[in-house]
Amino acid sequence: MKLTDYTTLGRTGLRVSPLCLGTMTFGTEWGFGADEKVSRDQFDRYLGAGGNFIDTADAYTNGHSEELVGKFVAEAKARDRVVIATKFTFGAQPGNPNAGGNGRKNIYRALEGSLRRLKTDYLDLYYLHAWDTMTPVEEVLSTLTDLVREGKIRYFGMSDTPAWYFSRMQTLAEKEGKERIATLQLEYSLVERSIEREHIPAAQELGIGLCPWGPLSGGFLSGKYTREGSSGRGEGRLTGPGSIWNKFTERNWRILDALLMVAKEAGKPPAQIAMNWAATQPGVTSVILGATKMSQLEDTLAAVEFTIPGELRKRLDEASAPESIHPYNFYAPAMQARVSGGTTVQGWRPAPMYEGAKAAPAAPPPDRKAAASER
Ligand SMILES: NC(=O)c1ccc[n+]([C@@H]2O[C@H](COP(=O)([O-])OP(=O)(O)OC[C@H]3O[C@@H](n4cnc5c(N)ncnc54)[C@H](OP(=O)(O)O)[C@@H]3O)[C@@H](O)[C@H]2O)c1
Repeated sequence: MKLTDYTTLGRTGLRVSPLCLGTMTFGTEWGFGADEKVSRDQFDRYLGAGGNFIDTADAYTNGHSEELVGKFVAEAKARDRVVIATKFTFGAQPGNPNAGGNGRKNIYRALEGSLRRLKTDYLDLYYLHAWDTMTPVEEVLSTLTDLVREGKIRYFGMSDTPAWYFSRMQTLAEKEGKERIATLQLEYSLVERSIEREHIPAAQELGIGLCPWGPLSGGFLSGKYTREGSSGRGEGRLTGPGSIWNKFTERNWRILDALLMVAKEAGKPPAQIAMNWAATQPGVTSVILGATKMSQLEDTLAAVEFTIPGELRKRLDEASAPESIHPYNFYAPAMQARVSGGTTVQGWRPAPMYEGAKAAPAAPPPDRKAAASER
């Protein structure tokens, strides 16, 4: 796969690169990230390699990320070439509850600010950044539909929402003739596979593309952090003052150990293996990369140009398999064998999501006689 192997964003006609340039690291306001020069170099390198998909948000580096993206796109005269995605949700004015959240008033306020900072009169993709736990689905859907029809945005997506929320929205859109969700943005990596339980099967059923963020788990999967008691040591965001997620868990260290061994055998840097794994998982449209240094971007851009050998991929899948919990343990192969009388049935789903789940206890061989007498 190459950066110029464009793919459609879910069930839309919008073509995007398989790696999207994340810009949460454009600007240093959050205590990590890159200054303007390095950010511009990253932007130029990505576009020069044929990439066309840029991800930002109104909240990133307090608006500076959008300003830098707007400036770089304008100076490169690349507005028609690039697909710009940005987001609303996070509060912009202390003390004002309506300068944040997913209500109609905030969406219009946030959009005007993003268009101004991005120096454009339309967005290609507008994301709800995170569920605010209260705004009704109908209000968000009708507002985003209006924005498409007003020509202010071309498509919209959902980020960090429960599966039931976006599924209800997409179903309503289909039934009511409103605009449909184009894509989802959620955390997905070898150490964070929770979305395989609900979000990915729902997205596949509902024709929604998936653009994962955090494919390196904030840099953890690059292998540059080492254990330090129950914590981690190494230079980067995860040990810096801006760190908000704890990636240094026993489970994650075990997955990292497996990744390091696979990377060694494959002769590739661990970051490339982790990125490649995420980019080639079922349902994934375009993975959002993040970098603070040019060397990191170079590493990542080469990450989709090879195939992980089957045996090594199997080891990664097994080492990182999500825990089997209720009710998903009912969908694992061992339980499904009881459903289909021990036969193998190839269902309609393009890729079975539950195969990796650590199995429920093996099913006894089906006792046809007993089963028949029960009915
Ligand atoms: N929707 C959401 O809620 C959400 C949330 C987060 C991010 N995002 C989007 O997704 C993008 C990527 O997210 P992310 O930054 O969390 O992705 P990530 O791939 O998990 O982490 C990227 C970080 O890992 C380190 N890194 C990257 N390449 C490396 C390499 N080759 N070797 C060593 N370290 C490397 C860098 O941080 P250090 O230099 O500090 O180590 C870099 O900033 C963001 O820019 C943003 O656009 C969306």
